[in-house]
Amino acid sequence: MAIRHFLDIDGFDKRVLTEIMSRAHVMKRDLRDGNTHYGRVANGKTLAMLFEKQSTRTRVSFDVAMRKLGGDAIALNSTDMHFGHRESTADTARVLSRYVDIIMLRTKSHESLLELANFATVPVINGLTDRSHPCQIFADVMTVEEKFGVIAGRTVTWVGDASNNVATSWVHAAARFDFTLRIGAPNSLQPSNEVVQWAKNEGATILISEDPREAVEGSDCIVTDVWVSMGHNDVERRIELLKDYQVNESLMKLASPEAIFMHCLPADRGREVTDEVIDGPQSVVFDEAENRAHAQRAILAWCLEDI
Ligand code: CP
Ligand code: NVA
Repeated sequence: MAIRHFLDIDGFDKRVLTEIMSRAHVMKRDLRDGNTHYGRVANGKTLAMLFEKQSTRTRVSFDVAMRKLGGDAIALNSTDMHFGHRESTADTARVLSRYVDIIMLRTKSHESLLELANFATVPVINGLTDRSHPCQIFADVMTVEEKFGVIAGRTVTWVGDASNNVATSWVHAAARFDFTLRIGAPNSLQPSNEVVQWAKNEGATILISEDPREAVEGSDCIVTDVWVSMGHNDVERRIELLKDYQVNESLMKLASPEAIFMHCLPADRGREVTDEVIDGPQSVVFDEAENRAHAQRAILAWCLEDI
């Protein structure tokens, strides 16, 4: 049987994603009700978490998720390892596969993720690359479903840097979870033609605008992210390009009155979003952060072949 890697949303069919998502909702509910019968899924198993970039949420939520499944986790920063410096990705993959049962990687280069998965003999999970952030969007879709029942048929609007990793995973998700994705971003920070074309070929509805007000109008969910992601050096250029794309109260007023505001965090408050919006009644950013742990518990269970 093929190893169950969790690399990107575009690599999955709807059926598998729906199964993992349903389990995530059940696991969250069960934990709240004090039901811990999932505690043996990862019994005696170890997750290695490799970080080439900083992390708060991914690091802690994966660690906690693994413990709640009965296993444990080891966090390794690339500065502490030979990985990325003195040892090939392939050799790291082969060695770690002899020690641990599952690996999560946060990397500067998507190619490293693919190479790690290619040579590992245990499941590999994408914990963010320069291309994508599927675990984040899995938790985000879960959060939208909690608020609206289902995401299918809803409209999600991304405002800001639509060329980044988080935005790319939203485009992938639009093709798999049947919601409309609108983008409000400057021309030079739109998602790549390749990813948009893939999603449209898969049946997604993606509407692209350079006008954030037009993109937000009547939308159910407004999402943004930092203007300067980890690894971006062109700070001044990005701020200049994105200065009219801040999510503030006047932009939120154009959305549906029931609209929610989402951000994967960490946020650069006062830049891509104002305090009034991120701390306001429409913001669900901390539910979203919490859902990383529930969603990843379900992803880990799927990778460990318990779904
Ligand atoms: N959203 C997210 O992945 O946060 P961290 O960078 O803190 O892991
Ligand atoms: N786009 C951001 C996401 C951080 C979770 C980054 O890559 O820095």
